[in-house]
Amino acid sequence: MGRSFAQIAFTPLVKEQQAKRGSRTQYERIEKLSPPGDALSEYEKEFILARDSFYLATVSETGWPYIQHRGGERGFLHVLDDRTVGFVDYRGNRQYISLGNLGHDDRVALFLMDYPSRTRLKILGHATVHEGEGAKQFVEQLSTSEGRKLVERAIIIRVDAFDWNCQQHITPRYTEEQIVKVMAPLHQRLAALEEENKGLREQIAGRAEAG
Ligand SMILES: Cc1cc2nc3c(=O)[nH]c(=O)nc-3n(C[C@H](O)[C@H](O)[C@H](O)COP(=O)(O)O)c2cc1C
Repeated sequence: MGRSFAQIAFTPLVKEQQAKRGSRTQYERIEKLSPPGDALSEYEKEFILARDSFYLATVSETGWPYIQHRGGERGFLHVLDDRTVGFVDYRGNRQYISLGNLGHDDRVALFLMDYPSRTRLKILGHATVHEGEGAKQFVEQLSTSEGRKLVERAIIIRVDAFDWNCQQHITPRYTEEQIVKVMAPLHQRLAALEEENKGLREQIAGRAEAG
Protein backbone atom coordinates (compact mmCIF):
# COMPACT_ATOMS: atom_id res chain seq x y z
CA MET A 1 0.00 0.00 0.00
CA GLY A 2 1.22 3.47 -0.89
CA ARG A 3 1.19 6.49 1.39
CA SER A 4 -1.52 8.25 -0.61
CA PHE A 5 -3.98 5.39 -0.28
CA ALA A 6 -3.37 5.12 3.46
CA GLN A 7 -3.79 8.86 3.91
CA ILE A 8 -7.17 8.78 2.18
CA ALA A 9 -8.54 5.50 3.51
CA PHE A 10 -7.33 5.76 7.08
CA THR A 11 -9.82 8.27 8.42
CA PRO A 12 -9.86 9.13 12.14
CA LEU A 13 -12.49 6.47 12.84
CA VAL A 14 -10.52 3.89 10.84
CA LYS A 15 -7.38 4.76 12.80
CA GLU A 16 -9.36 4.45 16.00
CA GLN A 17 -10.37 0.91 15.03
CA GLN A 18 -6.79 0.03 14.07
CA ALA A 19 -5.55 1.32 17.42
CA LYS A 20 -8.24 -0.56 19.31
CA ARG A 21 -7.47 -3.79 17.46
CA GLY A 22 -3.68 -3.61 17.49
CA SER A 23 -2.74 -2.81 13.87
CA ARG A 24 -2.26 0.95 14.11
CA THR A 25 1.54 0.89 14.60
CA GLN A 26 2.04 -1.18 11.45
CA TYR A 27 -0.26 1.01 9.35
CA GLU A 28 1.08 4.26 10.75
CA ARG A 29 4.46 3.21 9.39
CA ILE A 30 2.94 2.66 5.95
CA GLU A 31 1.15 6.00 6.12
CA LYS A 32 4.38 7.80 6.89
CA LEU A 33 7.13 5.83 5.18
CA SER A 34 5.72 4.10 2.09
CA PRO A 35 6.29 5.52 -1.41
CA PRO A 36 3.44 7.82 -2.51
CA GLY A 37 1.69 5.21 -4.68
CA ASP A 38 -0.29 7.74 -6.68
CA ALA A 39 1.31 7.35 -10.12
CA LEU A 40 0.44 4.27 -12.13
CA SER A 41 3.49 2.20 -13.05
CA GLU A 42 3.72 0.06 -16.18
CA TYR A 43 2.43 -2.84 -14.10
CA GLU A 44 -0.80 -1.04 -13.11
CA LYS A 45 -1.23 0.34 -16.63
CA GLU A 46 -0.96 -3.09 -18.18
CA PHE A 47 -3.41 -4.51 -15.67
CA ILE A 48 -5.96 -1.74 -16.32
CA LEU A 49 -5.68 -2.09 -20.10
CA ALA A 50 -6.29 -5.83 -19.90
CA ARG A 51 -9.64 -5.45 -18.14
CA ASP A 52 -13.03 -5.76 -19.82
CA SER A 53 -14.96 -4.60 -16.76
CA PHE A 54 -14.65 -2.78 -13.50
CA TYR A 55 -16.88 -1.56 -10.67
CA LEU A 56 -17.40 2.14 -10.19
CA ALA A 57 -18.37 3.47 -6.78
CA THR A 58 -19.82 6.93 -6.25
CA VAL A 59 -21.47 8.66 -3.29
CA SER A 60 -24.93 10.18 -3.45
CA GLU A 61 -25.87 13.54 -1.95
CA THR A 62 -27.82 11.60 0.69
CA GLY A 63 -24.57 9.88 1.69
CA TRP A 64 -25.34 6.46 0.23
CA PRO A 65 -22.51 4.56 -1.42
CA TYR A 66 -23.43 3.31 -4.89
CA ILE A 67 -21.69 0.74 -7.06
CA GLN A 68 -22.24 0.09 -10.74
CA HIS A 69 -20.59 -2.52 -12.96
CA ARG A 70 -19.05 -1.07 -16.11
CA GLY A 71 -18.22 -3.34 -18.99
CA GLY A 72 -16.86 -3.07 -22.51
CA GLU A 73 -14.16 -4.34 -24.79
CA ARG A 74 -10.85 -5.19 -23.20
CA GLY A 75 -9.00 -1.92 -22.67
CA PHE A 76 -12.16 0.23 -22.68
CA LEU A 77 -10.85 1.80 -19.49
CA HIS A 78 -7.99 3.77 -21.02
CA VAL A 79 -4.83 4.98 -19.36
CA LEU A 80 -4.21 8.55 -20.49
CA ASP A 81 -1.11 9.06 -18.36
CA ASP A 82 0.27 7.80 -15.07
CA ARG A 83 -2.31 9.78 -13.09
CA THR A 84 -5.31 9.62 -15.42
CA VAL A 85 -7.72 6.95 -16.64
CA GLY A 86 -10.94 7.38 -18.58
CA PHE A 87 -13.77 5.73 -20.45
CA VAL A 88 -16.71 6.65 -22.59
CA ASP A 89 -20.17 6.25 -21.19
CA TYR A 90 -22.71 4.76 -23.61
CA ARG A 91 -26.45 5.33 -23.65
CA GLY A 92 -27.84 2.67 -21.30
CA ASN A 93 -30.83 2.38 -18.98
CA ARG A 94 -30.90 6.16 -18.49
CA GLN A 95 -31.10 6.00 -14.70
CA TYR A 96 -28.00 8.24 -14.52
CA ILE A 97 -27.31 7.33 -10.90
CA SER A 98 -23.50 7.51 -11.12
CA LEU A 99 -23.78 10.68 -13.17
CA GLY A 100 -26.12 12.29 -10.64
CA ASN A 101 -23.83 11.30 -7.80
CA LEU A 102 -20.85 12.81 -9.59
CA GLY A 103 -22.74 16.10 -9.75
CA HIS A 104 -22.64 16.17 -5.98
CA ASP A 105 -19.26 14.60 -5.27
CA ASP A 106 -16.58 13.90 -7.88
CA ARG A 107 -14.81 11.28 -5.75
CA VAL A 108 -14.88 7.75 -7.11
CA ALA A 109 -13.52 4.33 -6.25
CA LEU A 110 -12.78 1.86 -9.01
CA PHE A 111 -12.49 -1.84 -8.33
CA LEU A 112 -10.77 -3.92 -10.99
CA MET A 113 -10.76 -7.71 -10.85
CA ASP A 114 -8.68 -10.24 -12.71
CA TYR A 115 -10.31 -13.51 -11.71
CA PRO A 116 -7.93 -15.95 -13.46
CA SER A 117 -4.88 -14.46 -11.75
CA ARG A 118 -6.88 -13.69 -8.59
CA THR A 119 -5.70 -10.10 -8.54
CA ARG A 120 -7.59 -6.94 -7.64
CA LEU A 121 -6.73 -3.30 -7.91
CA LYS A 122 -8.50 -0.46 -6.15
CA ILE A 123 -8.22 3.08 -7.46
CA LEU A 124 -9.37 6.24 -5.70
CA GLY A 125 -9.76 9.39 -7.69
CA HIS A 126 -11.72 12.43 -8.81
CA ALA A 127 -13.91 12.16 -11.90
CA THR A 128 -14.80 14.82 -14.42
CA VAL A 129 -17.64 14.39 -16.88
CA HIS A 130 -17.15 15.69 -20.42
CA GLU A 131 -20.18 16.08 -22.64
CA GLY A 132 -21.15 17.75 -25.91
CA GLU A 133 -18.70 19.68 -28.06
CA GLY A 134 -16.11 19.85 -25.29
CA ALA A 135 -16.05 16.06 -25.03
CA LYS A 136 -15.20 15.41 -28.70
CA GLN A 137 -11.48 15.00 -28.15
CA PHE A 138 -11.93 12.55 -25.28
CA VAL A 139 -14.73 10.65 -27.01
CA GLU A 140 -12.54 10.09 -30.07
CA GLN A 141 -9.59 9.12 -27.91
CA LEU A 142 -11.55 6.77 -25.65
CA SER A 143 -14.02 5.17 -28.05
CA THR A 144 -13.49 1.52 -28.79
CA SER A 145 -14.81 -0.29 -31.82
CA GLU A 146 -18.25 -0.53 -30.21
CA GLY A 147 -19.28 2.14 -32.68
CA ARG A 148 -22.89 0.98 -32.83
CA LYS A 149 -23.56 2.38 -29.38
CA LEU A 150 -24.41 5.96 -28.65
CA VAL A 151 -21.66 7.65 -26.68
CA GLU A 152 -23.17 10.09 -24.22
CA ARG A 153 -20.08 11.36 -22.44
CA ALA A 154 -16.48 10.75 -21.49
CA ILE A 155 -15.58 10.24 -17.86
CA ILE A 156 -12.01 11.11 -16.97
CA ILE A 157 -10.61 10.08 -13.60
CA ARG A 158 -7.66 11.72 -11.95
CA VAL A 159 -5.96 9.03 -9.88
CA ASP A 160 -5.25 10.01 -6.28
CA ALA A 161 -4.19 6.63 -4.97
CA PHE A 162 -4.33 2.93 -5.69
CA ASP A 163 -3.81 -0.28 -3.84
CA TRP A 164 -3.48 -3.95 -4.63
CA ASN A 165 -5.12 -6.56 -2.49
CA CYS A 166 -4.04 -10.05 -1.61
CA GLN A 167 -5.35 -13.06 -3.55
CA GLN A 168 -7.18 -14.63 -0.67
CA HIS A 169 -10.78 -15.70 -1.16
CA ILE A 170 -10.86 -14.97 -4.88
CA THR A 171 -12.15 -17.95 -6.81
CA PRO A 172 -10.44 -18.14 -10.20
CA ARG A 173 -13.03 -17.64 -12.97
CA TYR A 174 -12.51 -17.67 -16.70
CA THR A 175 -14.26 -15.91 -19.54
CA GLU A 176 -15.69 -17.84 -22.47
CA GLU A 177 -12.88 -16.43 -24.64
CA GLN A 178 -10.22 -17.70 -22.21
CA ILE A 179 -11.82 -21.16 -21.99
CA VAL A 180 -12.09 -21.46 -25.78
CA LYS A 181 -8.38 -20.61 -26.08
CA VAL A 182 -7.30 -23.14 -23.46
CA MET A 183 -9.58 -25.83 -24.87
CA ALA A 184 -8.52 -25.37 -28.52
CA PRO A 185 -5.54 -27.81 -28.42
CA LEU A 186 -7.70 -30.37 -26.62
CA HIS A 187 -10.41 -30.08 -29.27
CA GLN A 188 -7.77 -30.50 -31.98
CA ARG A 189 -6.34 -33.57 -30.23
CA LEU A 190 -9.83 -35.01 -29.79
CA ALA A 191 -10.62 -34.51 -33.49
CA ALA A 192 -7.29 -36.17 -34.46
CA LEU A 193 -7.98 -39.14 -32.15
CA GLU A 194 -11.53 -39.50 -33.50
CA GLU A 195 -10.14 -39.54 -37.02
CA GLU A 196 -7.50 -42.12 -36.05
CA ASN A 197 -10.15 -44.19 -34.25
CA LYS A 198 -12.36 -44.12 -37.33
CA GLY A 199 -9.46 -45.37 -39.48
CA LEU A 200 -8.65 -48.16 -37.05
CA ARG A 201 -12.30 -49.26 -36.89
CA GLU A 202 -12.41 -49.32 -40.68
CA GLN A 203 -9.23 -51.44 -40.75
CA ILE A 204 -10.70 -53.90 -38.20
CA ALA A 205 -13.98 -54.08 -40.12
CA GLY A 206 -12.03 -54.66 -43.37
CA ARG A 207 -10.03 -57.48 -41.80
CA ALA A 208 -13.17 -59.08 -40.35
CA GLU A 209 -14.82 -59.01 -43.77
CA ALA A 210 -11.69 -60.49 -45.41
CA GLY A 211 -11.53 -63.21 -42.74
C1 LIG B 1 -29.10 -1.19 -24.03
C2 LIG B 1 -28.13 -1.05 -22.90
C3 LIG B 1 -26.77 -1.14 -23.15
C4 LIG B 1 -25.82 -1.00 -22.13
N1 LIG B 1 -24.49 -1.11 -22.40
C5 LIG B 1 -23.58 -0.97 -21.38
C6 LIG B 1 -22.20 -1.11 -21.62
O1 LIG B 1 -21.73 -1.34 -22.72
N2 LIG B 1 -21.36 -0.98 -20.57
C7 LIG B 1 -21.79 -0.72 -19.31
O2 LIG B 1 -21.00 -0.61 -18.40
N3 LIG B 1 -23.11 -0.59 -19.06
C8 LIG B 1 -24.01 -0.73 -20.06
N4 LIG B 1 -25.34 -0.64 -19.80
C9 LIG B 1 -25.73 -0.32 -18.43
C10 LIG B 1 -26.14 1.10 -18.38
O3 LIG B 1 -25.45 1.89 -19.28
C11 LIG B 1 -26.11 1.83 -17.06
O4 LIG B 1 -27.08 2.76 -17.26
C12 LIG B 1 -24.83 2.57 -16.78
O5 LIG B 1 -23.89 1.62 -16.35
C13 LIG B 1 -25.07 3.65 -15.74
O6 LIG B 1 -25.59 3.10 -14.60
P1 LIG B 1 -26.02 3.96 -13.35
O7 LIG B 1 -27.22 4.79 -13.71
O8 LIG B 1 -26.39 2.91 -12.35
O9 LIG B 1 -24.87 4.80 -12.93
C14 LIG B 1 -26.29 -0.78 -20.82
C15 LIG B 1 -27.67 -0.69 -20.57
C16 LIG B 1 -28.57 -0.83 -21.59
C17 LIG B 1 -30.04 -0.72 -21.28
